[in-house]
Amino acid sequence: MTKPLRKAVVPVAGLGTRFLPATKAMAKEMLPVVDKPLIQYAIEEARAAGIEQFCLVTGRGKTAIVEHFDIAFELEATLRERGKPEALALLEAIQVEPGSMVTVRQQVPLGLGHAIWCARVFVGDDPFAILLPDDLILSDTPCLTQLADAYRETGGNVVAVTEVPHEHTNRYGILSIGRDDGRLVEVTGLVEKPEPDVAPSNLSIIGRYVLMPEVIGHLARMERGAGGEVQLTDAMAKLIGTQPFHGLRYEGRRFDCGGKVGFLEAQIAFALKRPDLADAVRSFLQNYK
Ligand code: G1P
Repeated sequence: MTKPLRKAVVPVAGLGTRFLPATKAMAKEMLPVVDKPLIQYAIEEARAAGIEQFCLVTGRGKTAIVEHFDIAFELEATLRERGKPEALALLEAIQVEPGSMVTVRQQVPLGLGHAIWCARVFVGDDPFAILLPDDLILSDTPCLTQLADAYRETGGNVVAVTEVPHEHTNRYGILSIGRDDGRLVEVTGLVEKPEPDVAPSNLSIIGRYVLMPEVIGHLARMERGAGGEVQLTDAMAKLIGTQPFHGLRYEGRRFDCGGKVGFLEAQIAFALKRPDLADAVRSFLQNYK
């Protein structure tokens, strides 16, 4: 029996330099896709997968994220007074259970691995999910639900993976693979951002993970990897051989909302899924052919 997956760590300390000037005074995770901030997609996906406890790893200038999941008393009272039940329902749906969301601060930007290590007290001895809000996934079954199901099947560590163009391996964590049934792959090695000529495959990790707490011990050594940063991928690689480690080719389309093109494409793809917007969007897109 696998230990139930109830915790998620969501790193939100990144500077968002690729979206300046929009992110000068605003957290990049608050950028909306259609009408919902990126961070809310991540939290909703986690909840759908049965996550009950959240740890946001924040940094300077990220207070709006914490506010977003709180009760906005004055706003809600005003909406109630003005008889706007739909708007009120949207706000109520965001609220998290009292005490279920904590934040820790990553004081210095030493990399994703360091950000996760900052959540070590929250993680304790439990398995935990990681969601990187920049990676937005449009799918029938939420991506983390797919991972959580795979975790119950295999136990151990499971990461979401997808094939990327070979020339892009230096943007991702890349897998060496063993047994592969087309959906689940056995991970035999992991390397962060290898150049295409040395990459062991073109199967890359995307921002959804289910990890065992032992990864924290490896992070604690603070070894520097690619880009001089403490890399989560390097710490995960040390678990291989000691615990099950699988990649899951998830069902769905991933948008890299950490960059402008992916972010713009996500706007269109998500708008086309909305019954209230799809026709209007499809119609104005005709003007850009
Ligand atoms: C991070 C991880 C990388 C992973 C990627 C997915 O990289 O380090 O292994 O493939 O997220 O989006 P970053 O995008 O922070 O450079």
